[in-house]
Amino acid sequence: MILITGGAGYIGAHANKELNLAGYDTLVLDNMSYGHEDFLKWGDYENVDLGDLDSLRDVFREYDIDAVMHFAAFTYVGESVEDPQKYYINNLKNTLNLLQVMNEFKVTKMVFSSTCATYGNPQEIPITETHPQNPISPYGKAKLMVEQVLADYSSAYGLCYVSLRYFNAAGADPEDEIGERHDPETHLIPLILDAAIGKREDIKIFGTDYPTPDGTCIRDYIHVTDLADAHIKSLKYLENDGKSDVFNLGNGNGFSVREVIEEAIKVTGKKIKATETDRRPGDPPILVGSADKAREILKWQPKYDDLSRIISTAWEWHKKDNQN
Ligand SMILES: NC(=O)c1ccc[n+]([C@@H]2O[C@H](COP(=O)([O-])OP(=O)(O)OC[C@H]3O[C@@H](n4cnc5c(N)ncnc54)[C@H](O)[C@@H]3O)[C@@H](O)[C@H]2O)c1
Repeated sequence: MILITGGAGYIGAHANKELNLAGYDTLVLDNMSYGHEDFLKWGDYENVDLGDLDSLRDVFREYDIDAVMHFAAFTYVGESVEDPQKYYINNLKNTLNLLQVMNEFKVTKMVFSSTCATYGNPQEIPITETHPQNPISPYGKAKLMVEQVLADYSSAYGLCYVSLRYFNAAGADPEDEIGERHDPETHLIPLILDAAIGKREDIKIFGTDYPTPDGTCIRDYIHVTDLADAHIKSLKYLENDGKSDVFNLGNGNGFSVREVIEEAIKVTGKKIKATETDRRPGDPPILVGSADKAREILKWQPKYDDLSRIISTAWEWHKKDNQN
């Protein structure tokens, strides 16, 4: 059985669906701090907080766990600057709890949700896995610390792990069963779609004077179902005795904020008002990753690699999720 921490959240729920489709038994562990009951459509579920060591032990005692996919974390970069303790406790300390219990119960395989935020401001584009890691937020720092802990536990205790550094997760399950729902929402595509359905007045463009062709920030958007597939490929890699490693997950092509808005106008057929405002502190002009290593070693091939398909899956879900 595969334990999915944070499996009631956006990316974890998509991984849960794909794992079940691939024939795995799953157990979602989530404290519902940011999770959704209606995303619990596959496998078993336990409401447990990773901060609660005894309940974690009960879960490992009760279920026969072969491997862990660890998605559970707080995810707001800005909030991590204002309240770093919240992030170091949940994203670092609670991960140490999970690793401790895995160690006690001799569970040796983990796929970990890391992030391109561990790189900090890029020195070269596209970013490869060997790019220096100088995170600029407590969110990115805590993720990097976990990567370092995983490396030490791997040498000392025989833990086998894959750390996946995602670029911008986007899109929704093509069958509309689950999708992106963060509260508050900070991600560009759902915010644009909120403007398209009239839930918000406009979409803010933070900075139009960046050194990019149209002056707005460029990001690498990767479809959530492709991320889920990379998790399954990582699990199979570990099952086949692959050695612990780190992989970027991105499409390798970037889109500017303006390009995403233009494409969303085409996909939705709606008017979307864009309001230009000042830059936000800490936003690098361009973040685009090379996922050549994942393609080569994990044999991962993103299927939703054009922006129009990414936005149209998000749009179908967004309309359905905002019906009531
Ligand atoms: N969304 C992105 O673009 C992106 C990019 C890079 C990395 N990541 C990482 O991917 C992972 C999933 O992100 P997401 O967008 O699905 O976030 P999400 O908030 O939708 O899901 C996280 C889930 O973890 C649960 N959780 C948090 N703390 C917990 C705890 N202590 N115990 C039990 N459950 C807990 C929440 O209730 C939630 O269901 C996170 O680790 C995030 O840092 C996300």
